[in-house]
Amino acid sequence: MTSNEIRKKFLKFFENRGHKIIPSASLIPENDPSVLFNTAGMQPLVPYLLGQKHPMGTRLVDVQKCVRTGDIDEVGDNRHLTFFEMLGNWSLGDYFKPDAIKWSFEFLTSKEEGLDLDINRIYVTVFEGDDNAPRDNEAADIWGKYVSKNRIYFLPAKNNWWSAGDNGPCGPDTEIFYDTNEVPLGDMTHDEFVKADDEGRVIEIWNNVFMEYEKALGKVVGKLAKHNVDTGMGLERIVMVKQGVKTVFGTDLFGGEQTREERIIIDHVKASLFMISDGVIPGNTGRGYVLRRLIRRASRFSSEPLSKMIEKIKKIYEGVYNLDDNGIIKEEEEKFRLTLEQGLKAFEKGINPFDLFQSYGFPIELTIELAKEKGIKIDREDFDKKLKEHQDLSRTSSAGMFKGGLAGTGEMETKYHTTTHMLLAALRQILDRITKRRSFKNCKKCIFRFI
Ligand code: ALA
Repeated sequence: MTSNEIRKKFLKFFENRGHKIIPSASLIPENDPSVLFNTAGMQPLVPYLLGQKHPMGTRLVDVQKCVRTGDIDEVGDNRHLTFFEMLGNWSLGDYFKPDAIKWSFEFLTSKEEGLDLDINRIYVTVFEGDDNAPRDNEAADIWGKYVSKNRIYFLPAKNNWWSAGDNGPCGPDTEIFYDTNEVPLGDMTHDEFVKADDEGRVIEIWNNVFMEYEKALGKVVGKLAKHNVDTGMGLERIVMVKQGVKTVFGTDLFGGEQTREERIIIDHVKASLFMISDGVIPGNTGRGYVLRRLIRRASRFSSEPLSKMIEKIKKIYEGVYNLDDNGIIKEEEEKFRLTLEQGLKAFEKGINPFDLFQSYGFPIELTIELAKEKGIKIDREDFDKKLKEHQDLSRTSSAGMFKGGLAGTGEMETKYHTTTHMLLAALRQILDRITKRRSFKNCKKCIFRFI
């Protein structure tokens, strides 16, 4: 089954059960300043989960584009990604636990309408209860109709409670796991299951959230006027399970990338292409900075221009998404290649991370990675402090001389800016050495260590 067929099957399955198909929202949240990108299918639907009437009714189904950068360091293993698609079905004050669970089970196992997965490889978890909400015996009882009672596990809020942040709709959830091992794991005790999950021997494929509570400032403050169902199934993972491959990179949504570097490149270029297609442009702050960081990171791992990769990704999504980077990736890549050489030299000389960021456009994360490779520890707090000072300075500078880094500054201004920063860095280091009465010799951090 191709990824395309899986998307279509999912939408059709729920359409046949009274759901209206809605298109994916943009990756850029429309009315939510709390996040830079949509990180889950529910995000664009928050107003409706809170009670606003949706024009398409109370049963919806969609495939939502998502970006999550929290796991960026994990990209390269078998299943972590920064861009992914989330399949979701929604009840806005309509059906609740019995139908949601029944349909999840049917979609996964039905030969005709669903994915025809093996019932004997399915495990589920439900909420064990706490001060906010009771143990979800109801969900466990409903699951008991479909899977063996020995494969239903109660887990705490850390695992089985879902909310998008500190404010908004939330609730207990039930998560569905699949065993992809050659020899099936069979019945497991609670502890054995938890261990199998920790070790990645079972893989979470679908989450059903029973959204009937509301959070404010991180605390559950009560029940919503109506109960909702919010589900999320990661497309890349379910395709991996269905296509019987060991990594998401082995599915038809990727090109069989083997090494960590290859995987990082395709993941980052893909995320960049989707972001740009939704209107993000590289910059030094917010969304633009995330994009810049992804392109530069991909570029650093790649021994050839990223254009081939762009074409490969466009082909994968042909007929599904309209992707076009308008040459932005190439432009950003070239800019980066030019500064990389200079920046690397400066880094070798020990210039501090803030000046690398300021003068060479080196994202702090890149500096940290480079430093790690060389066994040097970077003072992140110091960087954040300097960045904040600089931003305050930029905001108050009336002529707007230093407009927040290199973006949008003229060439001459950039040169002055860079020189000023380098000079300041040097002076700071000299002063530091003098006050501490140490020699410059062998000072790893000091750019004058060769004097
Ligand atoms: N909102 C839930 C999730 O993202 C379904 O896991």
